[in-house]
Amino acid sequence: MIAIKLCWHSPGAWLPLAGLLLAGLLGACESRQTKSAGAAAGPAPAAAATGPIKIGLLAPFSGLFAGSGKQMEGGVKAYLEQHGNRVAGREIEVLVKDTTGPAPDVAKSLAQGLIVRDKVDFLAGFVLTPNALAVAPLATEAKTPMVVMNAATSIITTRSPFLVRVSFTLPQVAAPLATWAAKNGVKGVYTLVSDYAPGADAEAQFKKTFEAAGGKVVDSVRVPMQNPDFAPYIQRIKDAKPEAVFIFVPAGAQGTAFLKAFQQRGLDQQGIRVLATGDVTEDQELPAMGEAALGVVTTHHYSAAHESAENAAFKQAFAKVTGGTLRPNFMAVGGYDGMAAIARVIEKLGGTIDGERAIEAFKGLTLQSPRGSIRIDPETRDVVQTVYVRRVEQRADGLYNVEFDRFDEQKDPGK
Ligand code: PHB
Repeated sequence: MIAIKLCWHSPGAWLPLAGLLLAGLLGACESRQTKSAGAAAGPAPAAAATGPIKIGLLAPFSGLFAGSGKQMEGGVKAYLEQHGNRVAGREIEVLVKDTTGPAPDVAKSLAQGLIVRDKVDFLAGFVLTPNALAVAPLATEAKTPMVVMNAATSIITTRSPFLVRVSFTLPQVAAPLATWAAKNGVKGVYTLVSDYAPGADAEAQFKKTFEAAGGKVVDSVRVPMQNPDFAPYIQRIKDAKPEAVFIFVPAGAQGTAFLKAFQQRGLDQQGIRVLATGDVTEDQELPAMGEAALGVVTTHHYSAAHESAENAAFKQAFAKVTGGTLRPNFMAVGGYDGMAAIARVIEKLGGTIDGERAIEAFKGLTLQSPRGSIRIDPETRDVVQTVYVRRVEQRADGLYNVEFDRFDEQKDPGK
């Protein structure tokens, strides 16, 4: 069964950045589920080939992005629930740390504690790009493999040779959407993205692919990354009367806020179509979006409605470890696949982890993910996968992103 050691830290602003060693000493640890014989409460022993293999999971568990962290953690736990928490004879111990949101200094300080004090074998997690970028140099310095389970700005994997990504990139999903839109007769698009690196990536790639296919981006706007008030932007879009709007905002409540405001201001009545990355209609939020989401076309790597035996089993395991109240979204699948990839690497190395050998073992790995088959490009350490075109539809048990077209073998076009 699962033994996840949860070590919660409250990284206050007072944490001295120079004294990062302290970070690992200030938190409290508890063993939340200790059904495994090998799991014990109390301080973690120093890393040894006989002790547990330690994975430091960095994600937001408080603040506006807490939902994404919980999804990711649920995905990791779902994998361990299905496969058990011993790999190559060694127990897996997951140390969970709350980055609190987009907080690069906090993420760096927590990662430092995990590396120096806890001697983790793997760093993992990373919902948000700024945190992944901040931690990448530490992974290089410590030669600790860093498994990105979401953060989706193209450049991230170039920031450390010890970094591997199992999730997706914004250009990887924006390019197929632009191609699909142009093929389906859309000519003029207004883009709206979150004003930080993934948004810039999405905006640039959509424009590049769409205009190369004969379309025109009529205008572009960027909204604050946290708590944007969409009303003034939506009014501008309404006045510009484009055929469609392309949108990227990070997973969470922002997609709902945008789509509701879009509908309230009558842009749907005006005939303006919504094209979005799947972040906007992500599965956890989708049931709360109501009819404002109906008909929205998105591209992404995972839908809870994806039909496969792997996805059915994943959803069952996810329900078991999260109490059955949440629908898993792509963050959960990132956590699940990241844990699966780590387990495969541990097996390949026979249970003795060395950073350099581990990163070599990730290269070229293929996994049967709940989203379909994925592989890690040995050149870029980035994920290659099918990107699905989906439409929000009402089903008996709620709204779903229903896949109706696909672009296979998509690499990150940013590289
Ligand atoms: C990111 O910060 O890279 C990020 C966060 C949330 C998303 C996508 C990308 O939905």
